[in-house]
Amino acid sequence: ARTVRRGADGALEVGGVDVVRLAAEHGTPAYVVDEADLRARARGFVTAFDDAFADLCGGADVYYAGKAFLCTAVARWVAEEGMLLETCTGGELAVGLRAGVDPARMALHGNNKSDAEVERALAAGVGRVVVDSLPEVDRVADVAARLGVRAPVMVRVTVGVEAHTHSYIATAHEDQKFGVSLATGEAARAVAAVLARPELDLRGLHSHIGSQIFDVEGFEVAARRLVRLHATVQREHGVRLPEMDLGGGFGMAYTTQHRPMGPADLAAGMARVVRAACAGEGVEVPRISVEPGRAVVGPSTFTLYTAGTTKDVALDDGGTRRYVAVDGGMSDNVRTALYAADYSATLASRRSDAPPVLSRVVGKHCESGDVVVMDEFLPADLGHGDLVAVPGTGAYCRSLASQYNHVPRPPVVAVADGTSRVLVRRETEDDLLALDVG
Ligand code: LLP
Repeated sequence: ARTVRRGADGALEVGGVDVVRLAAEHGTPAYVVDEADLRARARGFVTAFDDAFADLCGGADVYYAGKAFLCTAVARWVAEEGMLLETCTGGELAVGLRAGVDPARMALHGNNKSDAEVERALAAGVGRVVVDSLPEVDRVADVAARLGVRAPVMVRVTVGVEAHTHSYIATAHEDQKFGVSLATGEAARAVAAVLARPELDLRGLHSHIGSQIFDVEGFEVAARRLVRLHATVQREHGVRLPEMDLGGGFGMAYTTQHRPMGPADLAAGMARVVRAACAGEGVEVPRISVEPGRAVVGPSTFTLYTAGTTKDVALDDGGTRRYVAVDGGMSDNVRTALYAADYSATLASRRSDAPPVLSRVVGKHCESGDVVVMDEFLPADLGHGDLVAVPGTGAYCRSLASQYNHVPRPPVVAVADGTSRVLVRRETEDDLLALDVG
């Protein structure tokens, strides 16, 4: 579904719109999202999982993890493509509600939900509240009692899997803040506590093992452990848990070194491990759900920057490194600094036959860790005024963006069928100063 190519003049074109025109109309930096690409990925996951699980449990539900990137237009797009919406704060919930997403197709997660957030979710009629801790069981039940509703809940279980990913985004090993531990028996106690409260309707168990994962092995272990608990609960409490959620975390390609599985292979692999786990425990396969964020939105977007100052530095090995400074930086993409994430960059506004030089794309912020792309070969004649595109910035870039150094956050601009429109407008200095009421 990618619609990026070079036009006759050598400039990048996306969704039928030339980047030079985009920069003139919307300014830089800007996040440029290819609507057709995002929709196709959303639909691709929905279709792949529904097909792979059709025989096992009548299909699967695919939530879009809004934390990756959320605005009302994207919430609507993914809903139109058949996805449900996963939120983990009152703010994300508010975006989904404002977008008109059916509350019954939304879930509320979070390891430290406030009573106000739970109340808002239950009052709106959200489809699932994912209970993350033992103390939260009673808190959610008390809010439900106050509202006179029965809350549909999942219990988030820490399955003890070491996902092969950056430690900040691995979430199912024991020593971290999320979920109730399987190993210590806390998970079983949380399930019993939920079943003891008539205001709670236990729908099933949930696990999320981490993010930017490239194989099904971690999910296989998670599914086996989760299904074992699922079977134990059904046996010991004589209840049927109709659902199970295996979380998100499916990897995407930031550079050509990453080779993510396509949705069809991934879904088939997940179906295989779920089938085996359930067969092993002799239980009926519950309705499965998953929650991809990054793999849906990440590849759909690039950040368009304008290059400014360049500087050449002599390296110890006799070579040189060129620093290409752009008009944004760690305020619009903190992932390089935070996770040593890999990105690529390309000269976007024209073609160049100049020889490639080893370059580092850096921002305009006041620290040397302000790097957007660590190493990239860029044409030697790239300089002041050229447009630079950094692809794969749809996930966790705008959503993690800051106003560091009072740099207003860039807009999100959608392109489709030869036209562009602003989804999230650029912040202004007045926006920033409006908060300054001292
Ligand atoms: N479900 C749950 C419960 C999650 O906590 C997450 C991500 C997802 C689904 C979606 O994961 P995805 O499919 O997008 O990998 N800021 C980090 C990523 C943090 C992920 C947090 N949870 C980054 O930029 O890499």
